[in-house]
Amino acid sequence: MKRLAVIGPGRVGRTLARLFHTAGVFEIGALVARQDETARQAAAFIGAGEPGGGLDAADIILVSVPDPALESMIAGLAGTPFKPGAIIAHTSGALGPELFAPLADSGARMVCAHPVKAFSDPARSVATFAGTMTTLQGEAGARAALAEAFQAIGGQTLDLPDGTDRTLYHAAIVFMANHLPTLVQAGLETFARAGISGADGLAITGPILRDTLEAVLERGPAAALTGPVARGDAAMIARHLEKLGQADTELASLYAALARATADLSAEKGEASVEGLLAIRELTAPKAD
Ligand SMILES: NC(=O)c1ccc[n+]([C@@H]2O[C@H](COP(=O)([O-])OP(=O)(O)OC[C@H]3O[C@@H](n4cnc5c(N)ncnc54)[C@H](OP(=O)(O)O)[C@@H]3O)[C@@H](O)[C@H]2O)c1
Repeated sequence: MKRLAVIGPGRVGRTLARLFHTAGVFEIGALVARQDETARQAAAFIGAGEPGGGLDAADIILVSVPDPALESMIAGLAGTPFKPGAIIAHTSGALGPELFAPLADSGARMVCAHPVKAFSDPARSVATFAGTMTTLQGEAGARAALAEAFQAIGGQTLDLPDGTDRTLYHAAIVFMANHLPTLVQAGLETFARAGISGADGLAITGPILRDTLEAVLERGPAAALTGPVARGDAAMIARHLEKLGQADTELASLYAALARATADLSAEKGEASVEGLLAIRELTAPKAD
């Protein structure tokens, strides 16, 4: 069985190591952290591994230190005697293969393996990992080996093209996954202005939120779009903006920015009148300072 070492056995590192260990995908070798206690706790959580062990016996080295430490950590590996053909992977979303440049002559094969999941509590992350998408960018053989390994722990994988702009790739994930809760919060604040509690607000919108998300994922954003903007109902948008502006100008600005983007999506859908959509764009134009 291939041997996995983890540099930075924190939330991501220990979650993946435990999944690989439990599924019999990899034997767990060195666990390298700054503090001995971290490595010991990781070994206890994983149920295997050698706190402070060496990297020379590893077939796969997973580097999952925080992003600010990643560049210098990888650069510091230059000169390490790796096993011939060893795979070195980092798990960052925003940082890419450029970090591996100092290891170009090492004989190792490098790959970015980004699991697109929020890893907060490792025990919970282990339990909910199935179905997680991990994107892979880097050397072909290393991608294939990690695709097999991630699929063996119930994950999915997708190869990213070589030239992918990682900052924009990461921004796209943040747009969809992190800004969705913000959108729901804005709706709850608007409910509160209408005198409706958060619990009732979620009870009212929970079913339509789930249904809309399913429709977006199945049919795409334009096809799933409904509501006053999609109908080109500029009078209704003007009423919303007026009331929101009286209640909370930040909520009104956020609503206007989203309504403007929704008008563009509605134009793509092609069901609303051009006049209605132009009127909405006019109503929601950014105000000069
Ligand atoms: N958390 C997420 O939701 C998530 C999701 C996808 C990808 N990622 C990526 O995965 C990577 C790790 O994130 P994380 O959230 O798992 O981090 P984390 O929980 O903070 O764990 C980081 C680990 O790295 C160790 N470490 C920190 N600096 C180190 C250094 N200079 N040398 C050796 N070990 C060091 C820490 O050990 P000590 O306790 O000893 O300092 C800890 O074990 C990052 O690139 C992140 O962008 C995170």
